[in-house]
Amino acid sequence: MSEEIKIDENLNKAERYEQLLPQINALTADETDLIANLSNICAVLKYNMPGFFWVGFYTIKNGELVLGPYQGPVACTRIQLGKGVCGAAALRRETIIVPDVDKFPGHIACSSLSKSEIVIPLYNGDDVVGVLDVDSDSLNMFDEIDKKYLEELCSWVKL
Ligand code: SME
Repeated sequence: MSEEIKIDENLNKAERYEQLLPQINALTADETDLIANLSNICAVLKYNMPGFFWVGFYTIKNGELVLGPYQGPVACTRIQLGKGVCGAAALRRETIIVPDVDKFPGHIACSSLSKSEIVIPLYNGDDVVGVLDVDSDSLNMFDEIDKKYLEELCSWVKL
């Protein structure tokens, strides 16, 4: 298949997700290699969703979150469960939307340019096995639309 992602530039956010998710599905469904699929998911989101400054996965290894495939500036390698937005989302087992990272107690600033953030847990059965983290360099970038579509996307990821 073609690896080119097609997006209409004048779509609203929900419409962009509606156009991108089937393409991400097509891109990853027949590939069994986890690193390849996580890498492509990061690239599709970073380069097709306006305001997505950093997109990446952390997976739980020996009880802590360890950096996986990502697109964006260099990031923190390990995060303890319960620490930062990523560790909080993994521990609470829920998506966390942070409109202003400076107002989230314990936020871990991997880049001073990050202003808002959304973190979605990844599951294997009932177990949280990682997170998808998206940072924006704008305040208030993420809302229930991002939550809905990114949770759907994360439900496809099998760690
Ligand atoms: N800000 C995150 C850390 C990861 S970086 O943003 C890539 C946190 O508070 O968990």
